Amino acid sequence: MSASEEDSRPPSDLRPEVPHPARMYDYYLGGKDNFPADRAAAEEIMAFSPRVRQSARANRAFLQRAVRYLAEQGVKQFLDIGTGIPTAGNTHEIAQRVQPDARVAYLDNDPIVLVHSRALLAGASHGSATVIQADLRDPAGILASPEIRELLDLGRPVALLLFAILHFVDEDSDPYGIVRTLVDALPSGSYLALSHGTADFATPDQARRGPAVYCAATERLTLRGKDQVAKFFDGLELVEPGLVTVPLWRPEQPEQEGDASTGIWGAIGRKP
Ligand SMILES: C[S@@+](CC[C@H](N)C(=O)[O-])C[C@H]1O[C@@H](n2cnc3c(N)ncnc32)[C@H](O)[C@@H]1O
Repeated sequence: MSASEEDSRPPSDLRPEVPHPARMYDYYLGGKDNFPADRAAAEEIMAFSPRVRQSARANRAFLQRAVRYLAEQGVKQFLDIGTGIPTAGNTHEIAQRVQPDARVAYLDNDPIVLVHSRALLAGASHGSATVIQADLRDPAGILASPEIRELLDLGRPVALLLFAILHFVDEDSDPYGIVRTLVDALPSGSYLALSHGTADFATPDQARRGPAVYCAATERLTLRGKDQVAKFFDGLELVEPGLVTVPLWRPEQPEQEGDASTGIWGAIGRKP
């Protein structure tokens, strides 16, 4: 398919034959919104990284604890980029349990996320959440989006959520510049909450084969070390306990064996 044909593809084209990160993640979480190509790629990874499913669940649980924490700090506006296919405990549901008038803008570049999120949001209280097809690699476009401007007041604190998405942004796309552009647009008292895949605890074989599987997917995988993930928080004040593997961020359950070597870093930073 030529580039121009690709550009003119309707947004409803789900390209079932190509693995998509959103649908692979859905499969890891035990969801049903995935195709054989997604399952095959996910199974290939699970064969040499058997803890990937556990890591996905730990990531999702971290997202939920983080959103609740942010709402408890008084945050009522959430910009959730790379939202994923809806599953139990979505951002607006958690935030609105604490802050009933919380507003959430969901953004993702995968059409399947849009389809399922729109269906879910049909049941959300009117005007409190929206879902937009957008690409994180275009932060200026995100900030200028009329739908976002209509829902969120960027003059008041916003929680920017980047959970398990930045590892799909390679160095050529300037991930640090993207995060800086977004954080710079938010006022003091805003937060950045993110999680990020790492090979810090992987064998050399796992570290090589994971990204290789994603080479056949719609997005490439760039795993980063702890120092590289910490750099996303430059200029922000890290909330306790700082940058840790996601199960160790304010856990609600006793620590399990392997939590400290889960392959996902996570933290929340506050803009002073
Ligand atoms: C692993 S899922 C994470 C879902 C959710 N944030 C979570 O942590 O539970 C990654 C999501 O990021 C989306 N994504 C990847 N690259 C993106 C990009 N450049 N712009 C927007 N969304 C992107 C994928 O479509 C997918 O839904």
